[in-house]
Amino acid sequence: MKAVISLKNLSKTIGKSEILSDISLSLQSGEVFGFLGPNGAGKTTTMKAILGIIEPTSGQVRIFGKLPTDTAVQMRIGFMPENTYLYKYLTGDEFLDFNGRFYNLSREKLEERKTWALEKVGLVQARNKRLNAYSKGMLQRIGLAQAILHDPDIIFLDEPMSGLDPVGRKMVKDLLLELKATGKTIFFNTHILSDVESICDSFAIICEWHLVAHEQVAMLKMPIEDFFMERIEENSTRNHIE
Ligand SMILES: Nc1ncnc2c1ncn2[C@@H]1O[C@H](COP(=O)(O)OP(=O)(O)O)[C@@H](O)[C@H]1O
Ligand SMILES: [Mg+2]
Repeated sequence: MKAVISLKNLSKTIGKSEILSDISLSLQSGEVFGFLGPNGAGKTTTMKAILGIIEPTSGQVRIFGKLPTDTAVQMRIGFMPENTYLYKYLTGDEFLDFNGRFYNLSREKLEERKTWALEKVGLVQARNKRLNAYSKGMLQRIGLAQAILHDPDIIFLDEPMSGLDPVGRKMVKDLLLELKATGKTIFFNTHILSDVESICDSFAIICEWHLVAHEQVAMLKMPIEDFFMERIEENSTRNHIE
């Protein structure tokens, strides 16, 4: 099978600090991948490098065999950032309109996609409220609606479950499973190990800018929590110093 996402020896240095070190990874079409690691380990940086938002110092990123900045590639990927809602005076509906403009959808198609996405995240009733009146959970969900608006083949989500109450989490989880069932490739950063176990085909762990594990969930021989702690303890220099 052909990899839809491929990273080869990706590194990023800012000044004298290395913030990504030699990351190699590939994902197949339809794979749901969870990216784990402590705070500050490099998850968001890796995702931004894959998306072409930051340029790696060395190494290679390919999505569908092309550079992430390729326009055709950008049309086929969706991204939900950790917390970037600059336009809080917009309503949820207007926020989706604003994002939809980048995808060359007809007015009719855009209306259809907006309603679909809002239904998926349970925000139809709130579509005409301004984002500054949205709760954290609602902002997460409108971010998710924005990421799937143009029906992308690959969806990147940076901690989609954070800040959600149990109802919101269940909704997002069900949506990810539904997207998975339709063959979408999903790459998500998360802290929630049980979600990785119940949603993902595979996962990787990043610790202090290095990839320290890449596993198939079905092949795990111990609870994911134990596996995670073991890998972090083995690889964390801070632990070794203490
Ligand atoms: N533009 C930047 N300049 C300097 N350091 C950065 C920059 N972006 C990220 N970092 C550092 O890189 C590390 C990884 O950050 P990040 O990818 O946000 O981690 P995670 O998403 O896993 O919590 C952090 O220690 C952070 O301080
Ligand atoms: Mg992050």
